[in-house]
Amino acid sequence: MSAPRSPVVPAAALLALTVALAFASAAAAARHHSYSTVPAQAERADDEVRRMYAAWKSEHGRRPRAGNCDMAGDEERRLRLEVFRDNLRFIDAHNAEADAGLHSFRLGLTPFADLTLEEFRGRVLGFSGAARRAGSTRYLRRHGDQLPDAVDWRQLGAVTDVKNQEQCGGCWAFSAVAAMEGINEIVTGNLVSLSEQELIDCDSQDNGCNGGYMQNAFEFVINNGGIDTEADYPYTGTDGTCDANKLNEKVVTIDDFVNVATNNETALQEAVASQPVSVAIDAGGRVFQHYQSGIFNGICGTKLDHGVTAVGYGSEDGKDFWIVKNSWSADWGEGGYIRMARNVPSPRGKCGIAMDASYPVKYSSDNNPTARAAMTVLEMVVA
Ligand SMILES: *[C@@H]1O[C@H](CO)[C@@H](O)[C@H](O)[C@H]1NC(C)=O
Repeated sequence: MSAPRSPVVPAAALLALTVALAFASAAAAARHHSYSTVPAQAERADDEVRRMYAAWKSEHGRRPRAGNCDMAGDEERRLRLEVFRDNLRFIDAHNAEADAGLHSFRLGLTPFADLTLEEFRGRVLGFSGAARRAGSTRYLRRHGDQLPDAVDWRQLGAVTDVKNQEQCGGCWAFSAVAAMEGINEIVTGNLVSLSEQELIDCDSQDNGCNGGYMQNAFEFVINNGGIDTEADYPYTGTDGTCDANKLNEKVVTIDDFVNVATNNETALQEAVASQPVSVAIDAGGRVFQHYQSGIFNGICGTKLDHGVTAVGYGSEDGKDFWIVKNSWSADWGEGGYIRMARNVPSPRGKCGIAMDASYPVKYSSDNNPTARAAMTVLEMVVA
């Protein structure tokens, strides 16, 4: 039975919300004021910035850009130094605030320290948007199971080393591959690094280095009957022609994929407790670009533009986090990972992490049709 809703209730709720917001912003203003004791950052001297830039360049060994021996090259080098200087100023200011307890995470000189925010966005993202793909919604986990407080699939041996998508918007392939590597290890006991390049070259539902969807990638591998290894079909970081021979190397198979219930961090937790899960996030913010360590609770929106993989979760000092595997090399974040705030007020999750999560399903290690049919019968009996 459902009583008709009185229009008075939403109005009262709205008023309460307005009052609450007014108090919250007053509190925030007060809080900000009380931290005005954070010392203003002394500007770093020019020669110190140049030294740091030289050290950063030798560490991150950026490939020379085309045409950098001419005047345009000199111009470019000057510009890079100024972008680096500006980023360093931003990083120093954030870390001074972090030292004063205003943030739970720190920034640092990541591989993107000489890129403007616009350049960064254009270079290393590549999730095509929030168009959710059709997929099975069958839920494998039995209801009533007690969820563990913390899970780390890295420690459980189901996660390969952090990879590097380089200057290619192929994040969707890395995200999907990490989830497939995970379930394959969980089912077979073998951790096999799989080929992003096969997805970039051969999956015509997606757009290679111009972006794609993780669910399409799962669908591609299901329809192809498997995916090749990283070793046999290695990453080039560019769009290439599909290698038909390697396409036939169906080393690892999956059987299905599942969309996690949207905007529900508990549903996401259930999924991640079972296996690594592909998630889409908004990674286009400046604090995300320069993230180095800690539990990320920085500013970000929910305009999903990046595919990554949730490989665990936990809590530290009362703060819940997701363990997220990125594909920007081990030099970004915590060895290539970011811990993102979990159980945030918005049901969409931090940076939209709960908006579009999905994971591959794999029934058995020997993917023969008989075993699969038996499994299906078994499931029907259980259901
Ligand atoms: C979120 O997911 C959990 C676990 O699956 C479920 O019990 C709960 O009802 C869901 N919450 C909402 C608001 O749908």
